[in-house]
Amino acid sequence: MRVLGIETSCDETAVALVETNPWSTDILAQVVSSQIELHRPYGGVVPEMATREHLRNLPLLVPQVLKDINLGLDAIDAIAATEGPGLASSLLIGHSYARALAVALSKPMVGVNHLEGHLYSPFFANRRAVEFPFVGLIASGGHTLLVHALGWDRYIKLGSTVDDAAGEAFDKVAKLLGLPYPGGPEIERVAVKGNPEAFGLPRSFPERDNLNFSFSGLKTAVRFFYEKSAPMRTDPVWTYDLCASFQKAVVDVLVRKSIQAVSQARVEQLAVSGGVLCNKMLRDELEFACYEAGIDLIVAEPAFCTDNAGMIAGTAAEKLAAGIQPRCGNDINPNLDLFAPEPHGDMARGLSAAIKLKDRQTKQLPQKGDVLAPDEIEVW
Ligand code: KG4
Ligand code: ZN
Repeated sequence: MRVLGIETSCDETAVALVETNPWSTDILAQVVSSQIELHRPYGGVVPEMATREHLRNLPLLVPQVLKDINLGLDAIDAIAATEGPGLASSLLIGHSYARALAVALSKPMVGVNHLEGHLYSPFFANRRAVEFPFVGLIASGGHTLLVHALGWDRYIKLGSTVDDAAGEAFDKVAKLLGLPYPGGPEIERVAVKGNPEAFGLPRSFPERDNLNFSFSGLKTAVRFFYEKSAPMRTDPVWTYDLCASFQKAVVDVLVRKSIQAVSQARVEQLAVSGGVLCNKMLRDELEFACYEAGIDLIVAEPAFCTDNAGMIAGTAAEKLAAGIQPRCGNDINPNLDLFAPEPHGDMARGLSAAIKLKDRQTKQLPQKGDVLAPDEIEVW
């Protein structure tokens, strides 16, 4: 089964084509058009500009992905698009484009939760089968979340941020220090030259049983150091040390809480994703901590940690192959929740998934020219 995926939840226009095989989902082709340079002068994403770019990019990127893999539109079995959470105007472009394409091709359209895409992206990126149960860490510009994934659509929230997301904290501290947007890669670039032990910055919720995050105290501590140290600011080493100490504080908390979550959930796998996972110190420290604790760490290469369409198409393809009816509606939802109450009951969904997973190889999807019943072409 081949699924075309479209991701436009924020400032990246991304398109990918994936194919399911008996054990995993392979990403056949993908393109990401980043708008970072466009938004950089404004220090953050300007929604109207992002919308205009998505509108311009999509009609170019969809043919490009198909051309890259030498396939035509008739090779697509289903179309997936991010339904939320994200910027309403950005989501609307990708979602409407996907719906229109689905209707034109008489193919099913699947709305995908962006966070669910992140949750599974490490599996697709490593060509691994999605295996439950596992703990997922999502650390991006909008979210910091620890999820216990028991099965498709069966998620338990273990912890989340009570204020800023980890990526947001990187972005805000970078702005304070006069570094460009997005702040994460900039702080990392500066931090490699500094001493991570130079400043004693606070770590939030040190209690072992609390898996929530808070980064606003850390951000305030950095501001305090910055404002009290006017004479030192001209010394580049001072900035290197402050960035290194800040980065270490974020990394410490993310690593410690993730390991704690895995032990609390009594699972063996930790799958991590989101833009902050591009950070080398975080990746290295997670690898070390997981090695020590005997945890199977599944981490994607950086291109799959940031927003991409492979994760959207992959999630849709895996769910379709497992016979799961996507739980999203037929419209965008900028506040889409990963933990909304299960409409048909957890157990029923889990069991039906297990049964249907067995015949994913033989599952017949509508072929070109087939006359589809109205419910088969309904936008889910
Ligand atoms: O997942 P993502 O691309 O978009 C969202 O869904 O938010 O994450 C973007 C976030 C930004 O806040 C950015 O500063 C952060 O990820 N980020 C990093 C690094 N690269 C990107 N944070 C720390 N270190 C990095 N190398
Ligand atoms: Zn994201």
